[in-house]
Amino acid sequence: MTQTLLPAALLERYGKLPLPRYTSYPPANLWGDRDESLLRRALSEIEGRPLSLYVHVPFCRKLCLYCGCNMLVTRSQDLVTRYLNALDAEVAHVAALLPHRPEVVQVHLGGGTPTYLDEAQLSRLWQSLASRFDIPRGIEASIEIHPPVTSGAQLARLAELGFSRVSMGVQDFDELVQKRISRIQPFAQTRDLVVLSRQLGFVSVNIDLMYGLPLQTVERFAVTLDRVAELRPDRVALFGYAHMPTLRKHQSVFRSEELPSVEVRAALFELAMTRLLGLGYVYVGLDHFALPDDELLLARRQGELRRNFMGYTTCKSSAVLAFGPSSISELGSHYVQNEREVAAYCDRIESGTLPVVRGCSLGRDDLIRREVIMQLLCNLVLSKHEVSIRHGLDFDTYFASELTLLAPLIADGLCAWEDDILRILPPGQLLLRTVAAVFDATLHRPAPRHHAAAV
Ligand SMILES: C[S@@+](CC[C@H](N)C(=O)[O-])C[C@H]1O[C@@H](n2cnc3c(N)ncnc32)[C@H](O)[C@@H]1O
Ligand code: SF4
Repeated sequence: MTQTLLPAALLERYGKLPLPRYTSYPPANLWGDRDESLLRRALSEIEGRPLSLYVHVPFCRKLCLYCGCNMLVTRSQDLVTRYLNALDAEVAHVAALLPHRPEVVQVHLGGGTPTYLDEAQLSRLWQSLASRFDIPRGIEASIEIHPPVTSGAQLARLAELGFSRVSMGVQDFDELVQKRISRIQPFAQTRDLVVLSRQLGFVSVNIDLMYGLPLQTVERFAVTLDRVAELRPDRVALFGYAHMPTLRKHQSVFRSEELPSVEVRAALFELAMTRLLGLGYVYVGLDHFALPDDELLLARRQGELRRNFMGYTTCKSSAVLAFGPSSISELGSHYVQNEREVAAYCDRIESGTLPVVRGCSLGRDDLIRREVIMQLLCNLVLSKHEVSIRHGLDFDTYFASELTLLAPLIADGLCAWEDDILRILPPGQLLLRTVAAVFDATLHRPAPRHHAAAV
């Protein structure tokens, strides 16, 4: 698949609209207050569907000033022990509610910083899952690694436990930028962990980069990209810095004049994109790049790529069961989110209740739109015929107003109809959310209350 950069006129017209990231549909800021009865209902309905398990480890040693994640900086081992106990109780409680012992096809540990936990704590966490679920060896088991707080011994333990993929946060190797964002991470340290991960047999190493951070310049980011080229990770995630100082107070230390202008931000993205494509990476979509033989791209060619809260995946499972503070389960037609604060999460579990606080149950229209949006974001094609058959509707009638909204995007070359297939064209691959948003019926729906979206 060829990939071109976005013409400036299209970037100007479409690139500045604030759109959801579509890790869910409807987006999480529109969900309402819910309690554990929603999770009980959702669990009773998942039938024999295979499961993806997610565990949120919220702890970090030190605050990175740009951070938009759900995390807690603490040195309290008492709190970590309390969390591990609560997590174990949560997994036991939820597993006991399942009508059967389901097959697990994917496990992901995210954060915060999962490698905040030492080897014994990582084993304990894994045991909490493995003693309640059948987790076959060789499944897609991945973990987010923060290199400055990850040792060789931890990586070795993770490999022993069955983890096969690591995702390393880097953001930028430039020392000036690292100082400003309060995240000192020498290149050699990350390089050694990449090398060790490969020696230990991890099948995939991902690196997260960010553009739009304070003090970033095109010249210095080019050096970071040279270093990334040296590491040749299997996948690269290239995130635009989300500056939300009202929701993440610590970000307000960045003065607006320190942040790259819209033009520099676009130039940083363009530089990274050009460089990665030049190195042989393929743009998967929504910030993600992979080498051409990556299974994500194979799945895309077969129309089987999926996306869930953990990102793009080849796993066919449509059920994500999530544990830990702020985690989100996606179970059939329900989304269920846990309490965000660690102490409040533990309180809830210690009092014998499940820590559900928010969620959403999808109606027929939501389910149809979710499928359409996810098809476009993942597989870059949409078959009118398939949607019509699967949902018993006439696509042209059901989506008459959306087809009108789509017309200018087609005229601008973002997508095109080939018979009854809507295909995203290369410029549209960089504006995937713009095309998908045409089918989003919630865009102008007010949020029930202010909600801090997680990165
Ligand atoms: C949940 S963090 C976990 C990784 C790990 N804690 C670390 O920092 O290495 C995952 C990624 O989210 C991205 N991220 C964090 N804050 C962000 C923000 N404000 N805007 C965009 N991306 C952000 C970073 O690229 C980070 O590596
Ligand atoms: S970027 Fe990662 S390590 Fe830094 S504060 Fe956020 S979650 Fe923690």
